[in-house]
Amino acid sequence: MTQENQVSLEKITSLSKRRGFVYPTSEIYGGLTSSYDYGPLGAELLRNIRNLWWREMITCREDMIGIDSQILLHPETWVASGHVSAFNDPLVEDKVTHKRYRADHLIESWLEKNPQDEEVVVAGMGLTEIADFIEKHKVKTPDGNDVFPPKAFNIMFQTSIGVVEGEKMPVYLRGETAQGIFTNFSNILNSTRVQLPFGVGQIGKSFRNEITTGQFIFRTLEFEQAEIEYFFDPEKTDWHELFQDWQSQMWNFIHGTLGIREDKLRWRRHSDQERSFYSKETYDLEYEFPFGFKELWGIAYRTDYDLKQHMDHSGKDLRYRDPNDPSRVFIPHVIEPAVGVNRILMMALCDAYWEDIANNRIVMRFKPNLAPYKAAVFPLVKNKPEIVGKAREVFHMLAKKMGTNWDDRGNIGKRYFYQDEIGTPFGITIDYQTLEDDTVTVRDRDTMKQDDTVTVRDRDTMKQERVPIHDLADKLLGIIEE
Ligand code: GAP
Repeated sequence: MTQENQVSLEKITSLSKRRGFVYPTSEIYGGLTSSYDYGPLGAELLRNIRNLWWREMITCREDMIGIDSQILLHPETWVASGHVSAFNDPLVEDKVTHKRYRADHLIESWLEKNPQDEEVVVAGMGLTEIADFIEKHKVKTPDGNDVFPPKAFNIMFQTSIGVVEGEKMPVYLRGETAQGIFTNFSNILNSTRVQLPFGVGQIGKSFRNEITTGQFIFRTLEFEQAEIEYFFDPEKTDWHELFQDWQSQMWNFIHGTLGIREDKLRWRRHSDQERSFYSKETYDLEYEFPFGFKELWGIAYRTDYDLKQHMDHSGKDLRYRDPNDPSRVFIPHVIEPAVGVNRILMMALCDAYWEDIANNRIVMRFKPNLAPYKAAVFPLVKNKPEIVGKAREVFHMLAKKMGTNWDDRGNIGKRYFYQDEIGTPFGITIDYQTLEDDTVTVRDRDTMKQDDTVTVRDRDTMKQERVPIHDLADKLLGIIEE
């Protein structure tokens, strides 16, 4: 069952639209750059990713809590965090078409076509270095034209509060969820019983005025982040150990919980040049997307930078008083694992995609806990009320416990074909034998539930087995929760 070399961005984009995972936003008006909507299956998949992350990172841990802060924060937040002055991408403009590009991405594409003897580190290049490189190597745009000199382009989205012109207050749509955690740090200390080390997690929308386009949902203007700020006492906790511990948890979540293939994952350490100025160490967990290994999930040791900045800018005391030693008052340090929920979704689509040539079908082999629907219920025929009624009973029994899809359209082969393409692990058919089992049992009420059976078809192996209805939910849940 090899899965190699079959997936391309075009195939993923096309299946996503055809089956209702992801649609281009506002398509009837010609779309909107780097913006996508999630269809019925995408919405379920996003929800599964969020729920699995929240359960593993927050609910099941005694040292973690979650919050839900606003998209619009006080604008000083972003001055303090450095986003207003430094959240910039290098932008170049095509001299002829006036299309805009990320200069570092243009250089990376040029390097792919023109490999150099010595390694060129593009990430973290300053504007002058970028300008020199473009000049020296005559780097052109994809349309073959020269570019104007690179400029720093701030990617924060600005809007305003208020109705009266001249009195409006400029605010930003948040560029990361993290700052809502830092600005609530003293609220969290005062309203809960947490003690260091502890972490605060949050899932929510972030916005960036990205220049790069054309990578499907990999990089979008609006996206969802799942971020953790893990606070600790730098005198009592070895940050190297804590950092490695979080790296293991990230890997376990992606490979263990979500079932992503390990050979598609790798760690990449940020060079000194690339690393943000406030970070002492940064690694990216990368996944091999159809366009190469790219960042999925970042982890950074942000030290006490953010809390210090917010103390300076707000004038409020954000220090921690050690409950075991009240003379120790200090600013905690923080390690931050930060991932994009949509990027996990894109990885899940790429990793699950499988062309089963022998059986002439496409199968999305999601791990069952990730699959949008866990089961699909099929009445074998539509014109037999006993079969349809029994199938409805089975549907309602399962739907209370797991995502279940009802499908009574077309022949059974077509229904299997569709469910394989949307990655439903179990297809359940209510057929004539179910009724036969039923009639036998009507004579003896005690054995009725024991004897009713349905056919369960496994998505990956296509094997079928008969399972008593009374065992069905527990049997499927046992597999889903493995
Ligand atoms: N608080 C740290 C932070 O925001 P980041 O590396 O800029 O760090 C974290 O973002 C994660 O958010 C990335 O690893 C990626 O998964 C996701 N992400 C960032 N920008 C994105 C975008 N424009 N579209 C989709 N996901 C994005």
